[in-house]
Amino acid sequence: MDEFSYRDGTLWCEQTPLREVAEKFGTPTYVYSASTLVDHYVRFAKAFESINPLICFSAKALSNVHLLRLLGEQGAGIDTVSGGELHRALVAGVDPERIVLAGVGKSADELREAVRHDIRCVNVESEEEVALLARIAREEGRRPRLAIRVNPDIAPDLRTPAQTTTAIRGVKFGVDIERAAELFSAAAADGHLRPEGIHVHIGSPIFDPRVYAMAIERVQALIAEIAAAGHEVTTINLGGGFPAEYAEGSAPGWDDFAEAICPRLEGFVRGGGQVIFEPGRTIAANAGILLAAVRYRKQAGERELVVIDAGMTHIVRAAMYDSYHFMWPVTPVNGAIPQSRDGRPVDDLVSYDVVGPVCESSDYLAKGRALPAMVSGDLIAIFTAGAYGMTMTSNYNSQLRPAEVLIRSDRAKLIRRRETYDDLTALELLDGTEPTG
Ligand code: LLP
Repeated sequence: MDEFSYRDGTLWCEQTPLREVAEKFGTPTYVYSASTLVDHYVRFAKAFESINPLICFSAKALSNVHLLRLLGEQGAGIDTVSGGELHRALVAGVDPERIVLAGVGKSADELREAVRHDIRCVNVESEEEVALLARIAREEGRRPRLAIRVNPDIAPDLRTPAQTTTAIRGVKFGVDIERAAELFSAAAADGHLRPEGIHVHIGSPIFDPRVYAMAIERVQALIAEIAAAGHEVTTINLGGGFPAEYAEGSAPGWDDFAEAICPRLEGFVRGGGQVIFEPGRTIAANAGILLAAVRYRKQAGERELVVIDAGMTHIVRAAMYDSYHFMWPVTPVNGAIPQSRDGRPVDDLVSYDVVGPVCESSDYLAKGRALPAMVSGDLIAIFTAGAYGMTMTSNYNSQLRPAEVLIRSDRAKLIRRRETYDDLTALELLDGTEPTG
C-alpha cells in the first residue's frame, strides 16, 4: 500500500525514521514518500494501459511543485482548476500539452492564461463560459481546444460524501447532459474554438466501478448525438474520483476499475480517440502522512483527550467531512505496532479524542479512537494525508501552515518550509498605504 512501515518499534518512511524527520524539521510536517507517489502513478497507468490514457494528476489533491514535477517526470499531465494551479503546473515544468483546466467559475484572466499557453484542453462548464472563451480566443488569435463538462445525473454510491458528489441533477458542476450536444455544435460553429471532448467527473471518492461504466454509457450516447449533428468527439475525460485506502482493504483496486472502464472505451481508442483521467486521491493519499506531536493530555468529563499540534487548519478533512484518518504514535509504548501495519492485536489501548489547538468545537481529528497511551512530546502519524491535506490548510487562528518534506530512501528534503509569523503579516500593509492591484 505504501512505504510507511513500523520497524524496530518506530515508524519509518522508506529508509528514514520519522523520529529524525521530526527532530530536524519540527512538527506538524507533511511527509511524502517519493517512491510511493511514483509507484502509485506507474501502477495506475499500468492498470489502464490497454486504453493508453493521458493521466492528468489532479493538483487540487496535492500541489507542491516538487511533487508535480516528480509526477511530470513520469509522464503525468496535470489537472488544474484555477490560474494558481495552472501556474504551479507550468512552474513544475509540465508540458502545456499535458495540462487541462476545469472549474465552474474560471475568470477571464484564467481562461486567457490557458489560451496563451495553448493547454491541452479547457473543460468548460456553461454556455456563458463558452462565449467568453470564444471572445478571448479571438482577441488572442488562437483556437483553444475544449471539452464540455457534462452533468450526467448519476448518483454515486452511498459512501461518497454529499459535499463531494458532483454529477447529480441541480449541482453546480457541468452542463446538463441533454444540453451538451447543442453547446458542442455551437462551439464548433465558432471558428475560434476547437471543441473536441466530453468531460465528466462523477464525484470523489467513488467506490463502485459500475458508476464509471454508467457514466461512459451516457457519454457514449451523447457522442452519438453529437456525431449525428456532424461533429466528432475525439477526447473522453472521465475525471478522477478513484478511491484511496483510508482503512486497509476498504477500496477496490485499480484493476477492478480498469475492468469496468477499459472494455467500454477500447473501441473509441482504436478509432483514434484519447481518454483522459484526472486522479488525485488514489495516487497521493497514501503517499503522505501528517507528522504531529502531542502537546497535552487532559480529561473532559468522562473523556480522555490528547491535544496535538495539528488541527483543522493543518488537516481539515475530519472536521469538514467527518472523514476517517488512521493515526498511531510514531514510537508506540511497548512496541504496540497496529495490526493494519503488520502488528499483532494490541491490548491496553486507551479511547482518546484527538483534538487540535484551534478555537472551534469541530477541531477534532478523531473521537473515541483506541490508541496506545501517549504522553506530552510523543509523535503521532496521521495516515493517508497526502491528498487534500496540505492543499486544504488555512491560516485560521493565524496558525502557521506546516512544512513539507520529501523522503527518498534515507534522504529527507525540505520541499516547503514551515510558515513564519512574518509570512502571516507579509501581505498586510502596516504603514497606512492601501494595497494596490
Ligand atoms: N477532476 C475533477 C473535475 C474534480 O472535481 C476532482 C475533485 C478531481 C478530478 C480529483 O478527484 P480525486 O481523484 O482526487 O478523487 N476535498 C475533498 C475532495 C474534493 C474533490 C473535488 N474534486 C476531500 O478531501 O475528500
